[in-house]
Amino acid sequence: MRGSSLLPLIAGLYFPCIGALSLHKRDVPAVLDFPIERIQAAHPLRKRDIVDVSVLNTESSYYLLNLTLGTPAQKFSLALDTGSSDIWVNTANSSLCSGSDAPCNAYGLYNYSASSTYETVGTSINITYAGGTNAYGPYVTDKLTVGNATIDKMQFAIAESSNAAQGIVGIGYQVSTYQSEYDHKEYANLPQALVDSGAINSAAYSVWLNGLEATSGSVLFGGVNKAQYQGELQTLPIVPVYGEYMSLAIALTGVSVETDSDSNSYTQNLPLSVSLDTGSAFTELPEALVTKIYEALGATYDENDGMPYIDCDTREKDYNVTYSFSGATVTVGMSQLIFDGTEPDFPKGDCVLGLVPSEPGVNLLGDTFLRSAYVVYDLANNEISLANTNLNPGDDEILEIGTGTDSVPGATLVPSAVSSATGNGVATATGGVRTVTEAATATSGSTESTGGSSASRGSSAEATSTSSKGMAVAPTSKPIHLLSGLAGAGLLLAL
Ligand SMILES: *[C@@H]1O[C@H](CO)[C@@H](O)[C@H](O)[C@H]1NC(C)=O
Ligand SMILES: *[C@@H]1O[C@H](CO)[C@@H](O)[C@H](O)[C@H]1NC(C)=O
Ligand SMILES: *[C@@H]1O[C@H](CO)[C@@H](O)[C@H](O)[C@H]1NC(C)=O
Ligand SMILES: *[C@@H]1O[C@H](CO)[C@@H](O)[C@H](O)[C@H]1NC(C)=O
Ligand SMILES: *[C@@H]1O[C@H](CO)[C@@H](O)[C@H](O)[C@H]1NC(C)=O
Ligand SMILES: *[C@@H]1O[C@H](CO)[C@@H](O)[C@H](O)[C@H]1NC(C)=O
Repeated sequence: MRGSSLLPLIAGLYFPCIGALSLHKRDVPAVLDFPIERIQAAHPLRKRDIVDVSVLNTESSYYLLNLTLGTPAQKFSLALDTGSSDIWVNTANSSLCSGSDAPCNAYGLYNYSASSTYETVGTSINITYAGGTNAYGPYVTDKLTVGNATIDKMQFAIAESSNAAQGIVGIGYQVSTYQSEYDHKEYANLPQALVDSGAINSAAYSVWLNGLEATSGSVLFGGVNKAQYQGELQTLPIVPVYGEYMSLAIALTGVSVETDSDSNSYTQNLPLSVSLDTGSAFTELPEALVTKIYEALGATYDENDGMPYIDCDTREKDYNVTYSFSGATVTVGMSQLIFDGTEPDFPKGDCVLGLVPSEPGVNLLGDTFLRSAYVVYDLANNEISLANTNLNPGDDEILEIGTGTDSVPGATLVPSAVSSATGNGVATATGGVRTVTEAATATSGSTESTGGSSASRGSSAEATSTSSKGMAVAPTSKPIHLLSGLAGAGLLLAL
């Protein structure tokens, strides 16, 4: 497992040959580097049990970040999620948490009576994620520590009921917390709270999941680790939803598949707004596009299992799926895209391809994309910088992210990048209300045609079409449900 040590910066690292850098020379760089541990469930793919592929997201794998809450410190291991914005933890009252052998115990249980620094807030969370995970309970504040950083009055929610054993640490936009969306009261979530506490300069962080075989990757708040990527970081605008930055999504403009005999580019449903979501185990893209990729790679999608099967031998082939973002590209090789089915009755010789058809309007580049990328999420500037991962990184080369524009060291802005797209492939030059209206129409239409094949799909479809109307007439009010649906990994339905 990778250590969490933070290398002192060598003076030389401050003078790379790029003029536009914000260089911040200090004795101790304002960065926080943490390992994140990959948890692979014992039975990640419960073949016949799965009727809704999105269930895979919460059940198959995720990345845990350790932190503590309370005084004295209570320990937690929480799933790192760039697709949502709240921290919540389980309490002993939560359904999976009673008894000494409860699955919850491995991830931490919060007991407010045992903390001298706990305070109530007066609002509650009632959140349901795209993968089906839910949590209900009050917001509180308490002391949080993560590594050497301390936040005195961090707001988070404590679940009195939840269907998940592990809590979540959402590190998306502050405007997208449950409280902000539903009670219209913003609070400083983790990235902003780390800035406010002085631990980092700017609400920005880098995520390196490491490869499929690795058990841990890292999240680096306030910095970039040059050792963990190849080539140059390419900067792209985050795509706003209704003119507002709510979701860590960029415009996917091309997908191509390269095999030994062929190379094909696909434009079905593109450009498309896609969330770069660590909380999603799979990549989820529109069916028309995914079908083309299955054909090119020789995968078959089994409707009953909700599972794309592929010959395990394909994993050894020099084939690639390349994702383009206005010219910046990330290449995903077969070794990162194909994995074993672990069920005893899994068909012999068959493996699983980590790419599934999306729910309408919820398009995600999840872990099967992110393990091949290095991603800098610059919330402060509404930009994402990307490069191909380096799976043999060697010694850390950590550079601090400063304040102001162009503050990500070594990153180059992609010229004329698409800055507006919807989850349904409608792109406009300027974004704003026109995009919104089109997105609303397309989303509700395609959702209806799918039919409510599960309770959550039915409800989200309804919520989507209802609030989209509201949006079209009142662009400044927040159309919660539709926003959430398009935002991808965020909330799907919650009242
Ligand atoms: C989290 O803490 C536990 C022990 O409390 C440790 O076993 C685990 O390796 C830590 N994980 C990370 C990602 O730091
Ligand atoms: C658990 O539920 C009981 C009874 O409703 C309540 O008194 C207690 O405060 C709850 N504990 C936590 C940690 O939420
Ligand atoms: C919570 O902490 C209080 C005070 O230390 C203790 O009396 C109580 O038993 C704890 N509750 C649980 C569920 O551990
Ligand atoms: C915390 O600070 C100490 C001393 O400055 C340092 O040695 C250690 O690596 C830091 N730990 C983390 C997790 O950053
Ligand atoms: C796949 O990508 C790798 C790494 O970028 C490259 O070396 C290889 O040539 C590519 N294969 C094909 C068939 O394009
Ligand atoms: C939470 O929201 C769900 C629907 O989104 C609702 O059915 C449920 O009653 C809510 N729970 C509470 C305790 O408010």
